[in-house]
Amino acid sequence: MNISVEQTIHLTTKNTQLSLLVLDSGHLLLGYFGKKIGEVSLAYVVEEIQRASYMADTDGIKDFKLEQLPNLYPAFGNPDLRTPAHLERDASGSAIADFRYKSHSFSNEKKPLKELPYCQSQEDVTTLTIILEDALTKNELAITLSAFEKQDVFTQSVCYHNHSEATIQIENMQSLSLDFLSDRFDLITLNGAWGRETKINRRPLVQGIQGVDSKRGASGHGQNPFIALVDPQTNDEQGTAIACSLLYSGNFQASAEVDMHQNTRLQIGINPFQFSWELVSGDSFTTPEAVFFYTDQGLNTLSQTFHRFYQNCLLRGPWAKKSRPVLLNSWETFYFDFNREKLEKLAEKAKEIGIECFVVDDGWFSKRADSSSSLGDWVPNEAKLGGSLTDVIQSIHQKKMLFGLWLEPEMVSPDSDLYRNHPDWIIQSPGRTPQLIREQYVLDLSLKEVQDHLIVVLTTLLKTYKIDYIKWDMNRNMTDLWSGGLPENRQNELAHRYILGLYRILEEVTQAFPHVLFESCAGGGGRFDPGMLYYMPQTWTSDDSDAISRLSIQEGTSFVYPPVAMSCHVSAVPNHQLGRMTSLNTRTTVAQQGNFGYELDLNQLSKSEEDELKQQIVSYKKERETLQFGIHYRLSPYDKNQVAWQKKNEKTGDIIVSHVTILVQPNTVQKRLKLEGLNPQASYSFENTVRTGSELMEIGLMIPRPSHDFYASQWFLKKVKE
Ligand code: DGJ
Repeated sequence: MNISVEQTIHLTTKNTQLSLLVLDSGHLLLGYFGKKIGEVSLAYVVEEIQRASYMADTDGIKDFKLEQLPNLYPAFGNPDLRTPAHLERDASGSAIADFRYKSHSFSNEKKPLKELPYCQSQEDVTTLTIILEDALTKNELAITLSAFEKQDVFTQSVCYHNHSEATIQIENMQSLSLDFLSDRFDLITLNGAWGRETKINRRPLVQGIQGVDSKRGASGHGQNPFIALVDPQTNDEQGTAIACSLLYSGNFQASAEVDMHQNTRLQIGINPFQFSWELVSGDSFTTPEAVFFYTDQGLNTLSQTFHRFYQNCLLRGPWAKKSRPVLLNSWETFYFDFNREKLEKLAEKAKEIGIECFVVDDGWFSKRADSSSSLGDWVPNEAKLGGSLTDVIQSIHQKKMLFGLWLEPEMVSPDSDLYRNHPDWIIQSPGRTPQLIREQYVLDLSLKEVQDHLIVVLTTLLKTYKIDYIKWDMNRNMTDLWSGGLPENRQNELAHRYILGLYRILEEVTQAFPHVLFESCAGGGGRFDPGMLYYMPQTWTSDDSDAISRLSIQEGTSFVYPPVAMSCHVSAVPNHQLGRMTSLNTRTTVAQQGNFGYELDLNQLSKSEEDELKQQIVSYKKERETLQFGIHYRLSPYDKNQVAWQKKNEKTGDIIVSHVTILVQPNTVQKRLKLEGLNPQASYSFENTVRTGSELMEIGLMIPRPSHDFYASQWFLKKVKE
């Protein structure tokens, strides 16, 4: 192809490398992304590409086919006709833009992103900023790429600067767009629904556009802001993968487009559907941050890289690295039906059993007795609480437990003083009756006065009461998209402005009360994303608390998110969502995969269950460091009827292995479970046995024969000798 590479720019981490090529035409290409291969020229990678037919030449240069090249952050139609990374429209209605390389610079710092969550690190970050310019308008795109050396992770955000005199409309601005000269990938996304979130969804790429997106105003139960391309041979233990995740909690898209010549364009960013942003002269627009990396070590390494990175570079505040308390939540215990006496009785038992944080869920405020009223009126219902909230909290604190409270700040009930006083504060379209979901409306968080109101209400609540934990819920998606605060030509900004408003409130409130442990929730995992984790270091994983459903939900969620961020509770049987019976041991084993707690009436337990539960909590507290912060491995059991995982304590080397057989089968011979990531020479002791790491990894543990359906086993291995 008639092109010349003017310069190659390399950005590396410990084991990986991203190399960009600048053509003499000023176009920016992705020369290489993968394992570290050294700072070589790489010009041949694109120069040797043979031209295909029926494509426009670029700049009148014969056979210079931009559409066939691996572009980085391409514009549309000039002349690459695949899906662009960005699209902006000028006053004439033209959407043609032509950004070319202007300059680049390196620094050793990572700057904060204005109004948006971002990753940061105390150590070893190299940031490459590339400025592209459109010669006609003088507008610039600043692509900021940071390499986190030790983490083997890159981040990218893009900022559009309008230097022209004119106003432009941004109609699409992805956070990341990477082209690969191959389509030999499987695509992995996380999909599901309410109550069955984050199923790992893997399929081969085909020609066309495929992926996930949300138009719901939240990242959603049905999909997660994550996408990966993996070699068809890749499995948990080995193989290559490219993974991307987006620090964003609203409408997003993550896609892979396979073109006519078996090239793949991978993108992640704000969903361009019903999105536009009016950018006046002198103004700029910044995309959310994308996190991405390459590994050749398989899918367990993919997950562990995300866990380590989010644990170290995303989660903030004192709770980020602190052991999380064993918690009891009142929701599945009482739902709305509680009073002071019931709370006290439960709290007494909770204390006796070893619970560390007592959480009063929905129903404690105003006249809320079901889902039909009171959201927005965050005033304690003293009749129901049998006194002031201060009394309730004092009583919990006297029992040496932390006190937690449920809130749903983004919502309002039609039957509430807040709505009666401010009917114009909800998202609704002029002249139409707004839709109710769960009998509630969404407050218009794009309005500064609504943001300010919520900041005052929440800070007052947290100043007035000694609250240690907040569960921040959000139980409906956005309909009737329209805002009274925006002019006609800016209505498509609402969904993004809502998220910016939410982030502003969260920043103010969480930073003002760093000692409070915040947990986010959206009817379970309806907004389990890295954007929310930046403000709140844990999330309620799913409203389905059944241990067997949780196997796949938690496996999918921990595919990307650190297990300590994933709240998992033991609930009652028959399970309230499915009616399934599982043993206390199985429920506990499964819930201990994440951030552990309970959600059942402890006073309904038999004496033997109570003793078992006490014992479980004692042992959990001993092993908490390994269970919450240990390196997490998905183990490969013999068939799909079994699930197994392993935690490795990085400091002590101790190992905890958990295994669940789903349905018991007649006449089967049990197989062995091979462990991973052990020191081959070290000795590990468990159940009066000592085995070497080599034996445990090459031969494995014998899985006990299950005596009933949903049978769980656990092994606690202590590393005794190097
Ligand atoms: C949905 C949450 O996921 C539940 O855990 C509970 O907090 C309810 N909302 C309360 O309304």
